[in-house]
Parts: sequence; structure tokens; C-alpha cells
Amino acid sequence: MSDHLTPPSAADVAAIPVTAAQLPQSMLERFAREVAKYPAEQAQSAVIACLSIVQQQFGHVSVQAEAAVAQYLGLSPIAVHEVTTFYNMYNPQPVGKYKLNVCTNLPCQLREGVHALAHLEKKLGIRMGETTPDGLFTLQQSECLGACADSPVMLVNDRIMCSFMSNDKLDALIDGLRAAAGQAQEGGQS
Ligand code: FES
Repeated sequence: MSDHLTPPSAADVAAIPVTAAQLPQSMLERFAREVAKYPAEQAQSAVIACLSIVQQQFGHVSVQAEAAVAQYLGLSPIAVHEVTTFYNMYNPQPVGKYKLNVCTNLPCQLREGVHALAHLEKKLGIRMGETTPDGLFTLQQSECLGACADSPVMLVNDRIMCSFMSNDKLDALIDGLRAAAGQAQEGGQS
């Protein structure tokens, strides 16, 4: 499970730009490649891709970063903010190493989705929307993930879909992620 979001350091957060000119050159080059996929008059269609690039680099999309993307694409800041608040894959603030999104939409509610969320809250010792003190896990609710028949379902770090998440499977997942994080830390120290 290597494809995870890395929370930014305090220095990273402080360095988040306010204007497009303050964005890293490497990021602007990636923006340009996304914009080039659209006709010139539709450059704004690259907004989702540009915001994803920001999140990959900073770990979240701050309002300052939204403003910078808006300026780059010729959009109003509120238009960009509407995008980041519509899609819950965007993190408005730093999240844990593992972001867990449990679907609690109606079909999943009818098939244990809420119980899965409650089980995770108990196991992690946090409430929905919070991050564990060790910075490992952020727990969130999610809208329909398009796999209602597999409920309870959850998404890890916006990419890895987990189906039929019984309490036993949830426990195994959390324990496995904790172990992987511990090994990664030990590997980094050796
Ligand atoms: S309602 Fe949960 S995946 Fe569709």
C-alpha cells in the first residue's frame, strides 16, 4: 500500500503559495501538460487535474492553493472552491498517512455501512472527521462509491477500494496498515 498521501510538514504548509507565480516550477510544468489536453479556450477544464497535482505535492488543498490554481486557470477562487468542496477526494487540511472513507450512503446504510464506521471509530479512538494523534489515520464518511452491492465498502487514500468490510476485515486492515507504517519507519531509521 505504497500509494498514500503524505501529510505535509509545517514548513510545507507555510510554503504553500498564494499566487500562481509562487507555485513550484515543476508544478507549473505539470499544470501546463494538463491544460494542453484541452482546446485553448477551455483551459479551465484542467481544474480537477491541477488540484490533484497540488494535493499530491502538498498533501492537501488549502484556500491559498485554490487561489493560486484559480489565478493560473483564469477562474474565480470561489469556482475552484466549489470544485474542492464538491469532491471529497480533496483534503481541505492535512490528513493522516491513511485516509479512510467509509460509505454511509443509503444503500450502504441498509447493509452495515454505518456499523463499519462505528467500528472504526471505536478501534481508532477517534470520531468521524478526525485524525489519530499519531497522524496515521483520518476517518471520513463518503458518498456512494459505486459498489453498493459490496457494502460495507471503503476507500483508502482515494484509490484503494475495500469491499465487504466486516469488523474482522476492518481490524485486519487497520492492523496491517499500522504494521506497514511501523516497518516503513524502522526502514527509514536504519
Ligand atoms: S451507497 Fe455505498 S457504495 Fe453505493
